[in-house]
Amino acid sequence: MTLKIAPSILSADFARLGEEVRAIDEAGCDWVHIDVMDGHFVPNITIGPAVVKALRPHSKKVFDVHLMIDPVDPYIEDFVKAGSDIITVHAEAGRHLDRTLQLIRSFGVKAGVSLNPATPETAIEYVLDKLDLVLVMSVNPGFGGQSFLESQVEKISRIRRMIGDRPIELQVDGGVTPDNAGRIAAAGASVVVAGSAVFKGGDYAGNIAALKKASTAA
Ligand code: DX5
Ligand code: ZN
Repeated sequence: MTLKIAPSILSADFARLGEEVRAIDEAGCDWVHIDVMDGHFVPNITIGPAVVKALRPHSKKVFDVHLMIDPVDPYIEDFVKAGSDIITVHAEAGRHLDRTLQLIRSFGVKAGVSLNPATPETAIEYVLDKLDLVLVMSVNPGFGGQSFLESQVEKISRIRRMIGDRPIELQVDGGVTPDNAGRIAAAGASVVVAGSAVFKGGDYAGNIAALKKASTAA
């Protein structure tokens, strides 16, 4: 199966973010992945709802917003109003995952849960009916450009089995390259996030095509 590609704009030129979003759109990305960090849940600070809102007119593609923030509930509505299509929260953040997922869906947007590398897949066992996406972190969240953690391949397979025939996307984020995209697809992922692998060298279309090709070959 060919993976959908969601370039992470964390690796884009932040001084030209609007242009960068248009460029990955024209280069054939499927979704636009937006990494939101608060300097508390993760050791880095990135962007907030005002930036998401400013980027919205630059692409009609799915805005896939990955919230690495704690607390998360007070900010959901702001990210919805900013134009998010999918909002993904961390199972390790907040205290009431089920409630947070209901809150996201109450605004008519899709709800995702992300699992850190050390978090077992059982964390989502009782919320599968409230999920549109599961995000397996294949690096510890906080920074782009880290190496893929092989331990996560087994977790991807296990989650694929848990999902069964439910209409839930299985996304993998962190250290994805053409070298590992085939194994990630074979384990059952449907969409990968790629920051460095898309933005490196400036040939966004070529980089996206290389990731797609590697996943199709699996
Ligand atoms: C990490 C972010 C990722 C990251 C991916 O916390 O969630 O989206 O930017 O970057 P690469 O592909 O460079 O690992
Ligand atoms: Zn991310």
